[in-house]
Amino acid sequence: MLFNKPVTDIIRQRKSIRSYTDKPIEEEKKEALTKFLSANTTGPFGTKSRFIFIKATGQDKEALKGLITYGMIKNPMGFFIGTVEKAPHNLEDFGYLMEKNILMATDLGLGTCWMGGTFSTSRFAQKIALKNNEILPAVTPVGYAIQKLTVRDSVIRNFSGANNRKPWSELFFHGDKTLSTEEAGGYATPLEMVRLAPSASNFQPWRIIKEPQSNTYHFYIKRSPLLKQFFFMKEDLQLLDIGIAMCHFELASNEQGLKGNWKINNPNLRGMTDKLDYIVTWIGN
Ligand SMILES: Cc1cc2nc3c(=O)[nH]c(=O)nc-3n(C[C@H](O)[C@H](O)[C@H](O)COP(=O)(O)O)c2cc1C
Repeated sequence: MLFNKPVTDIIRQRKSIRSYTDKPIEEEKKEALTKFLSANTTGPFGTKSRFIFIKATGQDKEALKGLITYGMIKNPMGFFIGTVEKAPHNLEDFGYLMEKNILMATDLGLGTCWMGGTFSTSRFAQKIALKNNEILPAVTPVGYAIQKLTVRDSVIRNFSGANNRKPWSELFFHGDKTLSTEEAGGYATPLEMVRLAPSASNFQPWRIIKEPQSNTYHFYIKRSPLLKQFFFMKEDLQLLDIGIAMCHFELASNEQGLKGNWKINNPNLRGMTDKLDYIVTWIGN
């Protein structure tokens, strides 16, 4: 097993943590994280990533300054920094791999918070010695969560609607109709794990369409152009969200004993998909 606890428990437990206690991260946990990060390098589309775990210093605040959420992360003990090669589907791969790191940290009782943005010229880029053929699309602080939410944290959670998730009827489909849990069968749990996934501004851009009479699931993105304009993002951050969804779906499927693989095979469906962009298909055995 990849983690100590069932991945469905870890996914349910994870939430974004923005304020951390002074408690240092134990050496054995640091070692376990470093080992996990260094082995977690290739995403489902085959692009290569590199991840490091660094101790936080006062200067990290400077690196986070470009983000709208600057100042909202309090007292992190460390950061995961990651890079990915410039290649098609690299952001989905990065999202998939970084989310695995985040689930590993959650399994160890640590808090994290995805922070997407343009870090390619930041101190984080220097720390990981960013190469010309790589980008650095996101980082996460790591540390022990303050038990009681501060007023500021509650405001951010309410603003981003973090406690809310869209219902199945807006996310998962069977033709043009909502997919029921009965129709999903064993895949009801992997789909529920997608529904609970984190996403940039909690926009939950994943839309999944099941093919009739088979365990084939087509993953689409419903882009929110506003996100890019409002946050002045260089990278298409919502593709990270798709990688996160793929990570949850695959890990939960494996845990249920459901085997399958990812394939780019656009079924060119019409109708509701006109406003969506096709990304990838899960072909279950
Ligand atoms: C790709 C990505 C980028 C994010 N960027 C930020 C960020 O810059 N600042 C922040 O405070 N939260 C950020 N978040 C966290 C989301 O706001 C959060 O995941 C969402 O509101 C759901 O809440 P939860 O993680 O507690 O379930 C990001 C999440 C993702 C997946």
